Amino acid sequence: MLKNEHVTKVYKMGEVDLTVIKDLSLSIDDGEFVAIVGPSGSGKSTVLNILGCLDKPTEGKVTVEDVDVTQLNRTELAHFRGEHIGFIFQSFNLIPVLSVYENIEYPLIMIQNLPEAERHERIMQLLEDVDMLDQKDKFPDQLSGGQRQRVAIARALVTKPKIVFADEPTANLDTKTSQQIIELMRSIQQEFNTTFIFATHDEKIVTAVDRIITLVDGVITDDKRVAS
Ligand SMILES: Nc1ncnc2c1ncn2[C@@H]1O[C@H](COP(=O)(O)OP(=O)(O)O)[C@@H](O)[C@H]1O
Ligand SMILES: [Mg+2]
Repeated sequence: MLKNEHVTKVYKMGEVDLTVIKDLSLSIDDGEFVAIVGPSGSGKSTVLNILGCLDKPTEGKVTVEDVDVTQLNRTELAHFRGEHIGFIFQSFNLIPVLSVYENIEYPLIMIQNLPEAERHERIMQLLEDVDMLDQKDKFPDQLSGGQRQRVAIARALVTKPKIVFADEPTANLDTKTSQQIIELMRSIQQEFNTTFIFATHDEKIVTAVDRIITLVDGVITDDKRVAS
């Protein structure tokens, strides 16, 4: 369960205050498959980053897994994120000098300090899930966009997060690859009851989710459940 109560975000631009999120309240249940949509600049990434504990709100309360994360300091927040949250970005954000295998392993070493044997088992299973087992020793620049995003999905899932945030995950992918990536995330949501929250204007994602939250100028203008 994920909750945003009366959240406001103000960016200071020199002398000017830019309010990008205005008194926003939102609640998302475990296992939801939900998209935040809206025009460019409407605040989708800002909301995702606040809910995902990458950024702090200027005002308001954010509760993730029953923890008031607005009370945590930077270090605690980073640790909390590592335990509960996965991220997928439009630009994949893989580490170029690490192999596919090592990219997926990275969060486990940095955050969760799992024993080697357990790490190996988990990574091999995920490589199979995202159909990248035969590419495990390649480097990011040797992969297609779709393959890179599959690695990024595996990396986001390797810590077994309860919640995954995906910011425009299909923006750099062709239609067919996008469809495959969406299906992959849907199957993971169904198998593990992982919550997926997308920020997107991709129709293919919008038609695949169970709930669509529309954001305009930092305000929710629509929030509806849909049959997908
Ligand atoms: N770090 C920042 N500093 C100042 N303004 C920002 C910052 N990040 C985003 N903004 C502004 O906040 C608004 C919302 O941005 P964003 O959340 O990225 O929207 P979206 O993801 O919907 O395109 C935009 O006007 C953007 O220019
Ligand atoms: Mg954005």
